[in-house]
Amino acid sequence: MSGTVLVLGATGNTGSAVVEALRRSPGLAVRAASRRGHLRFDWADRSTWNDVLDGVDRMYLVAPIGDPDPMAAVGPFLERAAAAGVRRVVSLSSSAVAFGDPGLGEVAAAVRDAFPEWEILRPSWFMQNFTGAHPVAESIRTTGEFVTATGTGRLPFIDARDIGRTAAHLLVAPEARCGEHLLTGPEALTYDEAAEIMSRVEGRAVRHRAVAPDRFVDFLVSSGYDAAFAAVLAALDSLVRDGGQAVVSDTVERLTGTPPRGFADYLRAPAARHV
Ligand SMILES: NC(=O)c1ccc[n+]([C@@H]2O[C@H](COP(=O)([O-])OP(=O)(O)OC[C@H]3O[C@@H](n4cnc5c(N)ncnc54)[C@H](OP(=O)(O)O)[C@@H]3O)[C@@H](O)[C@H]2O)c1
Repeated sequence: MSGTVLVLGATGNTGSAVVEALRRSPGLAVRAASRRGHLRFDWADRSTWNDVLDGVDRMYLVAPIGDPDPMAAVGPFLERAAAAGVRRVVSLSSSAVAFGDPGLGEVAAAVRDAFPEWEILRPSWFMQNFTGAHPVAESIRTTGEFVTATGTGRLPFIDARDIGRTAAHLLVAPEARCGEHLLTGPEALTYDEAAEIMSRVEGRAVRHRAVAPDRFVDFLVSSGYDAAFAAVLAALDSLVRDGGQAVVSDTVERLTGTPPRGFADYLRAPAARHV
């Protein structure tokens, strides 16, 4: 395998796992980029955009995080990438986002339309939300409790490292599939069940407090969230509550040959959560 792969978001949950998996491919040059990465790349500073693309033929794309209009930066960057000779893009989206939806759905459509070889990753919610920098993890650390409006809705939580190694597989595969890939962990859990597993594995009480959807936005705003972002989070919880995010896929194992980790195994291996 030869060529040069650019990994954006290379210090993040998924990007760091993509870099780790790609470094096992002999002959491949891996370029790890982010504001704090080996190679400096900042969506907000276009002077950092050109050098990272030099000689690159494949790219892992993490759009600007939490930006309501990621296409403002991603659109012009994709134009530069296509002009620089990038031919395959593996782009991180979400199981909750379809082609053309605002934000990541527009990014997915732009990637599909601009490159001859493209793959859109649509992962479920990350297990890292319980342990990393996510507000759920922060709330668990400080209060032993977290709040959602998901009721008894189920989510097939996935370890971001399984997303990363699937992305790496798609980046180095001889043939592109040019498709969407629903990525999930091995089982769909309610948040109550996830809290029970976490309590058992970590030997401390972790509680899930369920609130009604119409109370959730107020709760988030009173916790310091911007009203617009609170509305987005509440809409996501309603999707889960209504059962629309419960599907378990076999994609990770089908593509990589290795099954994704379950939640208890993820929690039992703290050192392996982040690369
Ligand atoms: N959490 C979930 O449950 C979930 C589920 C489905 C989809 N998603 C999607 O996954 C994405 C997050 O992916 P992730 O968890 O792998 O990322 P992450 O851990 O949040 O890390 C973000 C990465 O982006 C880099 N970054 C941040 N601001 C940047 C900027 N201005 N310019 C360049 N790089 C920047 C960061 O590195 P530096 O700080 O070094 O720049 C870091 O490498 C989001 O789009 C989210 O919608 C999340």
